[in-house]
Amino acid sequence: MTLDPRRRALWHAMRLGAVWQTRGAGPAAAAPAVEPVTPEVESVTSEDAPATPAHAPAAIAVAPMATTTEPLPGGDGDRKARIARMDWEPLQAAVAACTACELCRTRRQTVFGTGHRQAHWLLAGEAPGAEEDERGEPFVGQAGRLLDNMLEAVGRSRRAQDPAAAVYIANVLKCRPPANRNPQPQEVALCEPFLKRQLQLVSPRVVLIMGRFAAQSLLGSDASIAQLRGRVHAIDLGGRTVPAIVTYHPAYLLRNLADKSKSWADLCLARQVGERRG
Ligand code: URA
Repeated sequence: MTLDPRRRALWHAMRLGAVWQTRGAGPAAAAPAVEPVTPEVESVTSEDAPATPAHAPAAIAVAPMATTTEPLPGGDGDRKARIARMDWEPLQAAVAACTACELCRTRRQTVFGTGHRQAHWLLAGEAPGAEEDERGEPFVGQAGRLLDNMLEAVGRSRRAQDPAAAVYIANVLKCRPPANRNPQPQEVALCEPFLKRQLQLVSPRVVLIMGRFAAQSLLGSDASIAQLRGRVHAIDLGGRTVPAIVTYHPAYLLRNLADKSKSWADLCLARQVGERRG
């Protein structure tokens, strides 16, 4: 990648090369294929990165939390309503016991979520990969190491005890799709009530939506990440709205280094928006 002097200075100032290196990162091909590179995303160049990482939100689009309305298979039309009333322990137990879709047949274990349950930030990803399926924790593979480094650069951590520095991380799907294939619409429809309940329970100051599937689920939008990022969305939690920032999925960033500067800008925007609500 060729950078002009201004961008090179920005790159170094943000320590993008160093801070976000993944420790012991193997070849990019080992990354889960969770951010399909659409022509739209591929065509995004570093030229449309904001000149400074912290920037004012360009627009606020309020998205009611997208929900599916059709009754769920098994005659359990009440399932979503029951999930929406669950507290943490019953919710975690319901996820662990879930057999609503075929993914329960191939998973090793469910991957519920991790981090502080009163964190100021909630991060939403797509689905567990092989390492997450093995360890039962989201984002513990190569993409997760990048994510942790990115978070550290903005003073946030999944291990922090202070809610202001903490994040809660969860995926749309709680079970690994075989061979890391894309989530199927029916799987998302069946699983997303769990994430939405986690979102309500954490009640964060800001949501960071990572990748296309999380954006589709939480914003109900099929737009590309390039179109959705760089502004503040709002998710209606039923009685309260929470600002949401869309960014690239870390697994996508492993393969598209030039877009790390955009993700940095997104994290800075999230920090700015979260602090504004403090
Ligand atoms: N990708 C995701 O979206 N979630 C994980 O937990 C791991 C990789």
